Amino acid sequence: MSNKILYASFKSIGAYIPKKILTNQDLEKMVDTSDEWISKRTGIKERHIADSDEVTSDLGVKAAEIAIQRAGINKTEIDALICATISPDHFCMPSTANLIAHKLGLNPITSFDISAACTGFIYALNIAKSFIESGSFKNVLIIGAEKLSSIIDYQDRGTCILFGDGAGAAIIQATDKKEEAIIDVHTSADGSYSDYLITPGGGSAEPCSLKVIENRRQFMKMQGNATFKVAVKTLTKDVKDILEKNRISAEEVKHFIPHQANYRIIKAVGDALKLKDEQIILTVQKYGNTSSASIPMAINDIYESGKLKTGELMLLDAFGGGLTWGSALVPFSGF
Ligand code: ACO
Repeated sequence: MSNKILYASFKSIGAYIPKKILTNQDLEKMVDTSDEWISKRTGIKERHIADSDEVTSDLGVKAAEIAIQRAGINKTEIDALICATISPDHFCMPSTANLIAHKLGLNPITSFDISAACTGFIYALNIAKSFIESGSFKNVLIIGAEKLSSIIDYQDRGTCILFGDGAGAAIIQATDKKEEAIIDVHTSADGSYSDYLITPGGGSAEPCSLKVIENRRQFMKMQGNATFKVAVKTLTKDVKDILEKNRISAEEVKHFIPHQANYRIIKAVGDALKLKDEQIILTVQKYGNTSSASIPMAINDIYESGKLKTGELMLLDAFGGGLTWGSALVPFSGF
């Protein structure tokens, strides 16, 4: 690699959305809920669910193939693959990133998973940016892939109405053009809120056992209302901080692309930033919350509808289990 200063650019986007749709009306038949309650409290109307023979790595592969093709690179040019997921194919090992790399024919390669829940894609972006700026790698494939339907309790109306499956992927590429550079990425976490969103069973704290399964401890549990309050406060502060630090005004942001957890959280943060409706990207109504996949799926949505153009500034923003949060200021460098 040359001695030129290297910047990391956001070169391409791809996504895969499973075909099967689970509507609010379907959920009315499964738990004590209503379309009216779900729509009013979350903005969600439907979510997509992967087939029983589709695993998280399959979703990731399909999104990655599109991102690679749109970046105009050969698979052999990919130096590293990072997969953000909380619903891996296998618990502990092998990593879902290893499996995606294998299915894409990228072996041998640096590949690993990160676990930062809904903030996973922003964590992956931060790591990819650092890899590239250090000169270690030229093309990093980052993926957010989730088959959340495999870790959701469809008897718990507090969580099952929220989540869906899907994957998104991006190529982060070295460039010497400063105007293409990812401007900044913030990532943070506070484990003192760890019980707000937790999968209690199956790890070393409560190893898999009949008791764990009988008590449904292998599924995700959430203190929704408490999480909601911390999310609004933390996200508002985080996006204000990243804009202020980089001396960028909210008006300069072309696309505000928040994690799609709840319409009311997105609206509260948008209002605090005085953003116009046309700046705020919303996909929660059709995909629900797809955790680490939600931001790249939303970027892909505006890309495919022709609304995302080269050079336009995106403000990304996420919050999730851990608790984790993060934001990023990213010009789109693709075509
Ligand atoms: N249908 C009908 N009623 C329901 C449902 C449902 N699906 N779920 C809960 N209720 C009831 C509750 O039991 C409660 O009833 P009560 O008043 O008789 O006790 C009432 O509705 C209000 O419940 P709240 O939990 O206070 O409802 P809230 O307005 O907070 O909405 C929600 C719940 C949608 C979960 C919201 O709190 C939320 O979006 N939280 C944040 C989620 C989030 O951002 N998570 C982070 C990312 S996820 C990740 O990282 C994997």
